[in-house]
Amino acid sequence: MAGRLTVLREDFLRRVPKAELHCHFEGTVRPATFKDLAERHGVELPSDDPAQLYDYNTIIEFLSIFGMVSSTIIDRDDFARAAYESLEDGVVLGNLRYREMFFNPTLHTRRGVPISTVLAGLADGIEAAEQDLHVRCRLIADVYRQDPPDAARQMVEELLDARDHARGHLIGLGMDGAEADDPPEKFVDAFHLARRGGLRLTSHASEDAPPRNIVTCLDLLGCERIDHGYHILEDPAILARCRDDGIYFTCCPTSTAVVYGWPDLSHHPIKDMVAGGLRCMLNSDDPTMFHTDIGREYVVACQALGYDAAKVRQLCLNGVEASWLDGVDKAVMRQELNAEIDALQASLPG
Ligand code: HPA
Ligand code: ZN
Repeated sequence: MAGRLTVLREDFLRRVPKAELHCHFEGTVRPATFKDLAERHGVELPSDDPAQLYDYNTIIEFLSIFGMVSSTIIDRDDFARAAYESLEDGVVLGNLRYREMFFNPTLHTRRGVPISTVLAGLADGIEAAEQDLHVRCRLIADVYRQDPPDAARQMVEELLDARDHARGHLIGLGMDGAEADDPPEKFVDAFHLARRGGLRLTSHASEDAPPRNIVTCLDLLGCERIDHGYHILEDPAILARCRDDGIYFTCCPTSTAVVYGWPDLSHHPIKDMVAGGLRCMLNSDDPTMFHTDIGREYVVACQALGYDAAKVRQLCLNGVEASWLDGVDKAVMRQELNAEIDALQASLPG
């Protein structure tokens, strides 16, 4: 009986409708597509089995493979194909309804791929997926922390100039890469320029660095939400401020369990963040590169943390509330998610 309940529960967790706000396009490429694109473009890979390359213990090792995957995505059609497949995986494996998806412009433009090609290809894939699979997606360009500040500022300038190629899908600026040695204040100019250009703002912060980076992102860069944020638990005053201000945190169970060493998800910082009153939601981060998907993230995290259906519903709805959909769209999505979760809950035993 217990086994049967577990199976039903996994099914429920996979099927609850999801909005995801922390997922990197380049980290969603299927291993078979990575291999195919590498062959097509003559990029030599260190292994015949690309899934074997998806194996790392540190963020630095991860970022090196992330760069390798990025180097195989070159033509507009490559971006379109990988974006479509990425959304298809979210829909099939986790009933994904909406995603705000990061991509790293400079990892592509530094190899000579025009930003217009990147934006147009991503928009092609997003629109095809919306038509075929009824999933929506918007784009967030990420500053890459290991870039110099001038390169980040120039990236934002080029992005704003080329924005029309994204056909309305580009809505925000974020920041990723290894955090410890490259604090957020380095990129204040890039963020202020993006804000003046009408982009919404978020940033990876306190993933692997002190909680003061969260304050810098909110107060100096003007970020509206925080990606990861786990070390906030080390500073009760910053936690209280974020709780009282209703800041949303986009948390990623598996990726951080792997590279930051919380192998037992029942002790992942998400648990105390939620218990401490922070508004958290769940995401897959770099799903294929961490051998996961958005459905599995809900399964492993909610089961390890012992969450009931009400908590799961809250996580899903937090994804909608924290999104940058406009008010009407948000209300429609909130209503759709609630109705679908009601129906799913009604089908649960007991
Ligand atoms: N953190 C830092 N850099 C990244 C990540 C992440 O979660 N994913 C892709 N690049
Ligand atoms: Zn991330």
